[in-house]
Amino acid sequence: MKRVLLVIGAKGMLGRDLVTVLHADLPDDEVVGWDIEEIDIQKKDETVAQIEKLGPDIVVHLAAYTDVDGCELDEGRAFAVNAEGTKHVAQAVSRCRAKMVYLSTDYVFDGNKREPYLESDSPHPLNVYGRSKLQGEQYAQAWAKEALIIRAQWLYGKYGKNFVTSILRQAREKGILSIVDDQIGSPTYTIDLANAISVLIQFDARGIFHVANSDLCTWYAFGQTVLKLSGMDEVRVIPISSEELGRPAVRPSYSVFNCQKLKRETGLALRPWSEALRDYLRTGQERQGEE
Ligand SMILES: NC(=O)c1ccc[n+]([C@@H]2O[C@H](COP(=O)([O-])OP(=O)(O)OC[C@H]3O[C@@H](n4cnc5c(N)ncnc54)[C@H](OP(=O)(O)O)[C@@H]3O)[C@@H](O)[C@H]2O)c1
Repeated sequence: MKRVLLVIGAKGMLGRDLVTVLHADLPDDEVVGWDIEEIDIQKKDETVAQIEKLGPDIVVHLAAYTDVDGCELDEGRAFAVNAEGTKHVAQAVSRCRAKMVYLSTDYVFDGNKREPYLESDSPHPLNVYGRSKLQGEQYAQAWAKEALIIRAQWLYGKYGKNFVTSILRQAREKGILSIVDDQIGSPTYTIDLANAISVLIQFDARGIFHVANSDLCTWYAFGQTVLKLSGMDEVRVIPISSEELGRPAVRPSYSVFNCQKLKRETGLALRPWSEALRDYLRTGQERQGEE
């Protein structure tokens, strides 16, 4: 029977790729994409009524206030969107007896561990964004029976401002860059994450899953690789500390996921980040040129 899949946050960086992937992978289902123009998840009654009216079978909830430093400066908005907004979506999901898929983040961890984070590790967020997303996870689990929670990290993709576009722009404009070298993680291409989300939906997975491209690096090494693969090796890159950068939100120094659960339950392992980046730079170049 034809199912209805609703993607909320469909015009965001991940959302655009995910809608395309779901259309291709699930041609017998109807995929509906909503974003802030169609639904404001901060408004409880409207959110519940709109979702109930559509009556989806699966709701993939990506909408969030994703500006990590912005969240630090506006805690009220961070919790209103990322926590309370998620509660409203989860309440609607519960009423429709649908399945909920919620996108969360590595920033639920403090980064004090020195080996890859398991889904069973205790969260301890360092910043407002991480705390608001963790509360979103808790609401999803409390309201939507057997929700699927996918934690992702260090995303870049064709449809949004991200670290890669920012490095290339700064390299063109200034010819010299300072990048932090004391945070470790796994840069992840939104296309690869979208494929993994689609696979997890097809496996009817439930519970928490960590998903990232494999291998790890610092932002500094990631930036250097972006420049090298773009033929801009001549640009000078200076490694700096997070303290020197002085961003409002503290970030975990170690954000590496153990993705074995994904492999065990679906057989899927994401390719190394450098391979994905190469692909992105090849196929995403046109859009970057437009910016
Ligand atoms: N980017 C990352 O590195 C990263 C890492 C880990 C996890 N995640 C999670 O992955 C998901 C997707 O991230 P992304 O980078 O694709 O984010 P994004 O590009 O910022 O997309 C989020 C979308 O949600 C919309 N939105 C914001 N407030 C809303 C509201 N009140 N009601 C309805 N829609 C609203 C945004 O609209 P506006 O643009 O108009 O605000 C935007 O289109 C998020 O849940 C995020 O927390 C992201």
